[in-house]
Amino acid sequence: MPDADQSAGSVAKAYAPGVPQRVEGFFLKGNGHLDWGMKDRLSRIFHPDSGRTVMLAFDHGYIMGPTSGLERMDLTIVPLIAHADCLMCTRGALRQIVPPTSGKPISLRASAGSTILTDLNDECLLDIEECLRLNASMVALMVAIGSKFEALTIRNLTTMVDAGQRYGVPVLGVTAVGKDLVRDARYLGLATRVLAENGAHVVKTYYCDEGFEDVAAGCPVPIVVAGGKKLPELEALTLAYHAVSQGAAGVDMGRNVFQAGHPVAMIQAVAGVVHGGLQPAEAFELYQELRQA
Ligand code: R5P
Repeated sequence: MPDADQSAGSVAKAYAPGVPQRVEGFFLKGNGHLDWGMKDRLSRIFHPDSGRTVMLAFDHGYIMGPTSGLERMDLTIVPLIAHADCLMCTRGALRQIVPPTSGKPISLRASAGSTILTDLNDECLLDIEECLRLNASMVALMVAIGSKFEALTIRNLTTMVDAGQRYGVPVLGVTAVGKDLVRDARYLGLATRVLAENGAHVVKTYYCDEGFEDVAAGCPVPIVVAGGKKLPELEALTLAYHAVSQGAAGVDMGRNVFQAGHPVAMIQAVAGVVHGGLQPAEAFELYQELRQA
């Protein structure tokens, strides 16, 4: 039986964060042995030269209703689309406001369920045929490790990975952190690893100030980092910088983009960090320049 005690004082962990995981036949770790369709879809989301991505998340409405900044997605999200590498949204938003001519890969929110009015994460799945009909490049679902819906959401992950493998669609496992759980390296390390071991091709999680390097190294597939609640712009850019410097393959950011003072400038500044290697202060300078343009 696995040892449940991961506290300090037990056997030392050896994540070797400075030693990149060996990847054969592909540019994304843990995904070297996939079939052509999977690799093609992942290559639309992640830049093959850097292995990084800037995903724009605006799926919040599926549990939160008209979140600030998403009241009129036709007005606030459509201008951001050109600057994102990938769009993470519900099938409703996709059909309602995303122009099919945009040419952007879609990470489709493929789980649905209870809202902020009740217990979150009591979820079901979209039909894989619907995801294919919408030409999803990836399907995303919530997995709530440590919550009362852990087993249900792990079953959902298993079901979606089976369907994704059948049709060549990669699965993004989203670590749902309940309000009673601490977003520290110990929890995030466990959650991300469980999702990867259960077949997620990419994992979305949160950044943590201490030990994120170990979280990223201990997850055998790429991690994209969510932004979380709105921060001042420089802090959000700093979060993105630390995340990618410590092993994340990019961001899947929502509120810190569409709730920014100048969202179009902000997404370009985030891309400056993720793809352009900008330091946070340089990216903030870019943000200030672009907001005046
Ligand atoms: C959460 O339900 C959604 O999956 C969001 O896509 C995710 O939390 C990322 O958005 P944010 O950067 O606003 O946290």
